[in-house]
Amino acid sequence: MSNSRILVIGACGQVGTELVENLADKFGRDRVIASDIRDEANFDVPYLRLDVLDRNGVRQAVIDHEITEVYHLAAMLSATAEQKPDLGWQLNMDSLFNVLDLAKEGILKKIFWPSSIAVFGPTTPRQSTPQRTIIEPTTVYGISKQAGERWCEYYHDRWGVDVRSIRYPGLIGWKSLPGGGTTDYAVDIYHQALASGNYECFLNADTSLPMMYMSDAVKATMDIMQAPADQIKIRSSYNISAMSFNPDEVANSIRDHISDFGITYKPDFRQEIAGNWPASIDDQEARQDWGWSHSYDLDAMTTDMLENLAKLLKATD
Ligand code: SER
Repeated sequence: MSNSRILVIGACGQVGTELVENLADKFGRDRVIASDIRDEANFDVPYLRLDVLDRNGVRQAVIDHEITEVYHLAAMLSATAEQKPDLGWQLNMDSLFNVLDLAKEGILKKIFWPSSIAVFGPTTPRQSTPQRTIIEPTTVYGISKQAGERWCEYYHDRWGVDVRSIRYPGLIGWKSLPGGGTTDYAVDIYHQALASGNYECFLNADTSLPMMYMSDAVKATMDIMQAPADQIKIRSSYNISAMSFNPDEVANSIRDHISDFGITYKPDFRQEIAGNWPASIDDQEARQDWGWSHSYDLDAMTTDMLENLAKLLKATD
């Protein structure tokens, strides 16, 4: 591993922004390379413009920079992929093959690729959704993640590819803005609470979804990649969970800090997506197999989000 490096693909996204920092702290700035499709980005580690659909470009970058581990985070999320189904499918699937095939050839040693609660659908049990259950997704994003999970397991079982995956719930963080997800209301609501004291929500008040604070999500991502290979018993993707809440509950949590915070509801097409996803997730296998545990619940997250976003607002005043 002496000269080997870690490549984060999709580094400018919501997870990538924080993951790059954490990887650099743990492994050193010279060991991590951030990449995304943008021409430029602001990282403390080297940055590479990379189109993950450019199969040869990805291959060359991996060889040139002596990459052995890839965190492949580039994806089109649920709401955007419903608007652009063919592009969503192409981006989410072709990019995965571009990375998996480099591991099949033995060039890459380890891959992280996230799946999502979006693999579940209306026929899945909604409460404490088990690891193994009915999986009949109804969104392009969900179908692409379900197919991706099957391919990850196939590459592992057939060619010994060391690919590891978790099904992210809705992710909430203050360091970057999300884009195109159905769970993103739970990020925007904090921004609006501070900016205007009001939020118009695109989901109904009682739509509960599994959620996680970003620091927990980054920890899960790093932990599963550090675990000894024989502890990773599921090679499709692990359920992980931290908390579940609905928009009414997050609004109440905000009112502990901003007492006159107001919320109104104007559900749009994203309500149907959310209504077909689990309300809560059973993640006992991740806890047993590689020691997953979370730190943040809703109120702890609200306190941290508001504190950090307020500082950011002040700094940009
Ligand atoms: N947060 C994602 C979305 O809403 C789900 O994985 O699309």
